[in-house]
Amino acid sequence: MKITVVGAGAVGASCAEYIAIKNFASEVTLLDIKEGFAEGKAMDLMQTASLNGFDTKITGVTNNYSKTAHSDICVITSGIPRKPGMTREELIGINAGIVKTVSKSLLEHSPNTIIIVVSNPMDTMTYLVHKTTGLPKNRIIGMGGALDSARFKYRLAEATQAPISDIDGMVIGGHSDKGMVPLTAHATRNSIKVSEFLSEERLNQVKEDTKVGGATLTKLLGTSAWYAPGAAVSGLVQAIACDQQKMFPCSALLEGEYGLSDLAIGVPVILGKNGIERIVTIQLSDAEKAHLHESAEGVKKTNGLLEL
Ligand code: 2OP
Repeated sequence: MKITVVGAGAVGASCAEYIAIKNFASEVTLLDIKEGFAEGKAMDLMQTASLNGFDTKITGVTNNYSKTAHSDICVITSGIPRKPGMTREELIGINAGIVKTVSKSLLEHSPNTIIIVVSNPMDTMTYLVHKTTGLPKNRIIGMGGALDSARFKYRLAEATQAPISDIDGMVIGGHSDKGMVPLTAHATRNSIKVSEFLSEERLNQVKEDTKVGGATLTKLLGTSAWYAPGAAVSGLVQAIACDQQKMFPCSALLEGEYGLSDLAIGVPVILGKNGIERIVTIQLSDAEKAHLHESAEGVKKTNGLLEL
């Protein structure tokens, strides 16, 4: 199983590290445009192999896509991260060109690969890859909801004072500060609805803290987060590589599901060897449906800025 990660920055390198530590892939190729950068990150990561107990072979390459040939899964993290005060949508001008070029270069050497898009604004970048590659829609996956759901669970555990292993919850909708839809009515603490432990006011605070989870960290760090994004991507890669048939919220191209079409946005999907095995349609309250459609309007507005 060969995985390529494009972008050896903090997110890409963290993704490569978590994939390696999970030890399900034979090789990970880390590619960056900065001379020697991916090679250095790969070598440093390989020097943790004996310490972290993995056999995955991580190699780094500088902008040489022939070295990514025959990749089963390709993760696109390249592009600029946001700075404090920026929205993800403000990155479109630079990142759209990068993502377009990168996806084309990847497919030249791995025509059968599955692509996972991380670069922001992620839902729009995912849509861009659909529109510019024409790949079957099951083979293009946007990672945002898995990260947002992890932040949702973190905030729920904090609010309930429960161990995070007791918490389950999902965020759907756009991966944007205003567009996320944390499904508080579905969230549970060991199968019991969290609404039995938290007031509506406290649950609303959890929702709001979740939605700005990325911005909160960007303010603290001076740049976008990387540990949780890298870990979230590695979970999607593992589900595909190991054909786990696991459900994740991922940005998927909709063609009528949830009453939405012609956009990629976060919805529950089953991930397996074929990438998106199927989109899962769950029961949403009228309010949740309205929030998802409102979120979709925001994503479509950003999509409208693309030069397709
Ligand atoms: C985040 O929310 C980078 O969009 C990513 O941290």
